[in-house]
Amino acid sequence: MYKITIVGAGRVGEAAAQFLAQHQHCEELVLLDVDEGLAVGTALDIQESAPLFRFDTRVIGGADASLMAASQLVIITAGFPRRPGMSRSDVLEANVPIIDAIVDHVRCHAPEATLLMVTNPVDVLTWRAFQRSGFERQRVIGQAGVLDAARMASFVALETGFSPQDVCAMVLGGHGDTMVPLPRYTCVGGVPIDSFLPPEAIERIVQRTRQGGAEILALRQKSSAYDSPGAAIAAMVDAVRHNRRRLMPAVCVLEGEYGQHGVAMGVPTVLGARGMQRVIDLPLEADERELFARSAERVREDIARMAEMDERMQRIAAS
Ligand code: LAC
Repeated sequence: MYKITIVGAGRVGEAAAQFLAQHQHCEELVLLDVDEGLAVGTALDIQESAPLFRFDTRVIGGADASLMAASQLVIITAGFPRRPGMSRSDVLEANVPIIDAIVDHVRCHAPEATLLMVTNPVDVLTWRAFQRSGFERQRVIGQAGVLDAARMASFVALETGFSPQDVCAMVLGGHGDTMVPLPRYTCVGGVPIDSFLPPEAIERIVQRTRQGGAEILALRQKSSAYDSPGAAIAAMVDAVRHNRRRLMPAVCVLEGEYGQHGVAMGVPTVLGARGMQRVIDLPLEADERELFARSAERVREDIARMAEMDERMQRIAAS
């Protein structure tokens, strides 16, 4: 039996749960939240769509972490979302203790699981989960690039008029303002986009991609994106669950790839059974390399802030 747990029954967790159930990616899907009524109610709501969408997945909600027992995949979406005007890093301090507590539950109840991190700032929190879980890096990945690339592909489709289905985009780096959309690796039906778009249009697409999350938040005010993030989670789960060996960007811990150590960020990977099977170390041009290095610096600054938080907590505990 394949069992997936989603921790966090907010909108991203709910959207992901609906897609995973609808596509029958697992026999059992657990939706966990500290708000038990929210988790149970949302699970029931999704379960009741089963006769209409025709799926057999059993959807269970609850607040008790032991419900995740023996899950093969645990998806972490819980935490505070950013508000309009905030960066993803602004919620770091609030979300670290939440992630720590969840990762401890995973170590206890689902020690063989692959962890898919979604909570922002996702690069830093993927690094955190890797360190705290003690899992091998293949089993601790984060969702960012699949969503960012889907946004970029959507903008390319809108600008060119081609079907979004034929656009394949590539976005690397941290999931923030310094992300690195790569037009050179973005194609429509295999044809590089500079065959169809002038440089100004490509630059517009790059900027809009970097601001993609903020654009939706600014419009909605009360909520970040959740449909496309839910779909991005489902695409990554599909690759892992069915061992598809898909080439997809994922946040992962780097061990020398792209010249980086001691950091987690978005890179092209091969996703299959158990998680990240390989990092694809793409040859980057000088300007792309520089953007990637700058993005890594931003993620490192947050990792350093997290270390300071830990020291502060230790001092308080010792006093
Ligand atoms: C976004 C949030 C989910 O990019 O990070 O929409």
